[in-house]
Amino acid sequence: MTTLHDKVPQGLDRKEAEVYKHLDPARLPKHIAIIMDGNGRWARRRHMPRVAGHRAGVASVRSTVETAARIHIQALTLYAFSEENWKKRPASEVGFLMSLLSRYLKAEVPTLNENNIRLEYIGRLHELPADVQERMGWAREATARNSGMVLTLALNYSARSELVDAFRSMVQAASQNGGINHLRIDEDMVSQHLYTRHLPDPDLVVRTSGEMRLSNFLLWQLAYAEIYVTPTLWPDFRGLHLLEGIAEYQKRERRYGGLNHKDAHAPAETAKA
Ligand code: FPP
Repeated sequence: MTTLHDKVPQGLDRKEAEVYKHLDPARLPKHIAIIMDGNGRWARRRHMPRVAGHRAGVASVRSTVETAARIHIQALTLYAFSEENWKKRPASEVGFLMSLLSRYLKAEVPTLNENNIRLEYIGRLHELPADVQERMGWAREATARNSGMVLTLALNYSARSELVDAFRSMVQAASQNGGINHLRIDEDMVSQHLYTRHLPDPDLVVRTSGEMRLSNFLLWQLAYAEIYVTPTLWPDFRGLHLLEGIAEYQKRERRYGGLNHKDAHAPAETAKA
């Protein structure tokens, strides 16, 4: 007999368990992508410098990652740092974010290993500072043998740049393999040349702080994703909010351009004269 105890995964707190109980474990999203937004506003409301919002955002990352792993989400991708952030924010803020990332990686690897999480990255990583790249390589290697959730951090990431890089890579592969005249491009081929070739497309994209934009995030991969926008600012976001987003996702009907179940099984209407 299945008891409530069997159903709720270990490690969820009381409020998380309450939301989880109403979820259908067979219909969890395989891959969740999150646009973490609102750190600056969180800090401003408290009359603190913007970087205090970023620092507070690390606790949200920790809670969200742990909850996602506990309920056996296969892949979680976090938009940590866009190419635009890099170019348009003061050097001092960029420097702070880089050192925050470095410290996060050093501190979190043991927890990632305890939770069987494998770390990956997407973005133009070669443009990041050499010491940060080194730390990233170390953390990836230290978690490479884990077989549970894949946690992908998008760093210096832009979806348009990703597509440009994919097209370049397809042309280069063709030129080394029979010549450009033999190049045949289809959707699978594009997907195989994206930074996300190790991942299924996200089923759900979450954006915090109420903004209704994709902000150049995974534009190809989000083609059929459900979008969940919450007014919660990222530093206030926790695993509980992730579960609420999943509950909302499970209320939606995904149609991929087809009909809903009722219409698909109804007799086709004939046009009346
Ligand atoms: C958006 O808030 C957030 C970022 C640009 C950075 C995200 C970084 C973190 C959550 C911290 C650490 C992450 C890791 C992976 C260690 P914003 O500054 O654009 O907020 P605003 O729109 O309110 O100004």
